[in-house]
Amino acid sequence: MNARLRLHALLVPVLLFLCACGGGARPTNAPIKLGFVVKQPEEPWFQLEWAFADVAQKELGFTLVKIGASDGERVLGAIDNLAAQGASGFVICTPDVRLGPAIAAKAKARNMKLVAVDDRFVGADGQPMQDVHYLGISARKIGEDVGRALHAEMSKRPWSHEKLGVCVVTFDELDTARERIQGATAVLRELGVPAERIFTAPEKAPEIPAALDAVNVLLTRHPDVERWLVCGMNDNSVLGAVRALEGRGFGADRVIAIGINGTDCIDELRKPATGFFGSMLLSAKEHGHRTVAMLHAWCKDGVEPPLDTRTTGILITRANFEQVLKEQGVAR
Ligand code: GLA
Repeated sequence: MNARLRLHALLVPVLLFLCACGGGARPTNAPIKLGFVVKQPEEPWFQLEWAFADVAQKELGFTLVKIGASDGERVLGAIDNLAAQGASGFVICTPDVRLGPAIAAKAKARNMKLVAVDDRFVGADGQPMQDVHYLGISARKIGEDVGRALHAEMSKRPWSHEKLGVCVVTFDELDTARERIQGATAVLRELGVPAERIFTAPEKAPEIPAALDAVNVLLTRHPDVERWLVCGMNDNSVLGAVRALEGRGFGADRVIAIGINGTDCIDELRKPATGFFGSMLLSAKEHGHRTVAMLHAWCKDGVEPPLDTRTTGILITRANFEQVLKEQGVAR
């Protein structure tokens, strides 16, 4: 046998073995490769998740592939791309939770393990896909904390319920968004804010321009309101509302707005008081580091993560944010 034939004789069985194992196959001693796919790579929240996933990559010695995917086509392409690179699994915050069944099926077909982060997959029956491993926030509880903090701050001011409006920026496509908002409004009602003073502004996307448009429509409808409390699913939704209110002359003396994430409002908190009073800081570390660490243990040692993991939040305001961000490893 000449040298070329000998090489073929060696390579063919290896290639056949790799094909039989599907996309997730990797040579035994090569480092594990994992993907981390996010829906909005431009949002500081997702950049921080990636930064903490990078820390896990260094600590645990796997290879991380980060991919931004803002629609279904890009998500499915990203999974194919990861499979072609021999990734064993991926963490994903999908741009559309209804892609859940397609993502889960593709991961299975490609022999890759999967952890959903932030936005939980929804099945064909409209229910959360409980068989897909998920790590997300305790949305209802964090929403309730927003409601309590809004009320506590209002109670420090000479504000009555008369001429008060609660601006609730809604985004019904996501369970986590609905739960956050329901938690906040339920607590405000329990604390005595009349239901008829609570108004919703549905945004088309959880982004500043979309929230600004939605809240402008709401403000046009309620010219009688003199003081506003504001909540929404995340910092950008609430920042959009604050900008719309500023456009109509409502500043820090007549607006108390509290966001969620705590990562997308740092520049805002560094400004002198605006209507944006504070935010519930979520744990980008848990979401970025813990998800890939769990996935790594699962792919490497077969340790299956819990199906449902929830994380908590801490209120940050201008008074404490520098300190808390430092303690949480989010800012220096
Ligand atoms: C959703 C939001 C993000 C962030 C995460 C937290 O994905 O779009 O801004 O709040 O949830 O889990």
